[in-house]
Amino acid sequence: DWVMGSYIDEAVKKIREQVGDEEVILGLSGGVDSSVAAALIHRAIGNQLTCVFVDHGLLRLNEGDMVMEMFAGKLHANVVRVDAADLFLGKLAGVNEPEAKRKIIGGLFVDVFKEEAAKLKASGQAHKGATFLAQGTIYPDVIESGGKKAVTIKSHHNVGGLPEQLGLKLLEPLRDLFKDEVRELGIALGLPHAMVYRHPFPGPGLGVRILGEVKKEYADLLRRADAIFIEELRATVDPETGKNWYDLTSQAFAVFLPVKTVGVMGDGRTYDYVIALRAVQTTDFMTADSAELPYPLLKKVAARIINEVRGINRVTYDVSTKPPATIEWE
Ligand code: XMP
Repeated sequence: DWVMGSYIDEAVKKIREQVGDEEVILGLSGGVDSSVAAALIHRAIGNQLTCVFVDHGLLRLNEGDMVMEMFAGKLHANVVRVDAADLFLGKLAGVNEPEAKRKIIGGLFVDVFKEEAAKLKASGQAHKGATFLAQGTIYPDVIESGGKKAVTIKSHHNVGGLPEQLGLKLLEPLRDLFKDEVRELGIALGLPHAMVYRHPFPGPGLGVRILGEVKKEYADLLRRADAIFIEELRATVDPETGKNWYDLTSQAFAVFLPVKTVGVMGDGRTYDYVIALRAVQTTDFMTADSAELPYPLLKKVAARIINEVRGINRVTYDVSTKPPATIEWE
């Protein structure tokens, strides 16, 4: 619309003034904020921007390909995809504790990003070497990091301090915007609705949705179960509101439980893993209620996961509220 159009013109002008003929790198995660920041900065300075997309092997099904298709394929942005799955899974072997996993994933993320920034500089792909680090920081992040911190329940993986470590100046074009404004901006920039209205996804990804030790086998099972759940949520419309259940929930995902239970399939006994489904409604993610999904939807998702994902023979639905439970299981 007109208002967003002139906002974009203004933002583009500001970015051009700030950056001049220098170069920018940005860590693309596939999340809403970094995606919108990338699209906006790309609109302003084209290939003076290089995006680095670190695939830690703990992303959702086809997520890496979708990010590449959008940014490299459709927008023709410079995107370096780093396949770091083996590195991350290697360092996570034998680690069970959630906060220990978060620290490893967050730390490796920074290491890989720094290494890529150095490589880009050496290769001349970011021709003179980037002098700016762009981040998708939005207004609520600015307030949160300034405010008093309550007891830390979970250390959220953010890249604080990265610009100093890299010796780069910060470029944060979304700093004044609230989440819904960021989404509107994303749509106005031509990003697909499904990307801009996607549920939030934690930085450590499936690393905190596989309880205890993370293994590739578990991640592969979880990815498929999660994709079935999301597909069915999108496909099921609530007649009362006319909206589908993906849009009616704030966050929905599958969790991998590394315990085996007994089942029966055909004439045989199975002894396989369990998937828990979690879907919540919340406005601020500080408190949340479990979504009252229609029973037929839940049963269909359970049946599909058990039939289609060999290795899973039981599905449960988490009805806990936050508090006392949290949204993620770890
Ligand atoms: P909890 O589980 O604390 O989650 O109720 C609240 C919101 O935060 C997200 N979350 C994370 N996001 N890194 C992130 O970037 C993390 O380590 C992390 N842990 C939880 C969670 O997905 C929910 O949206």
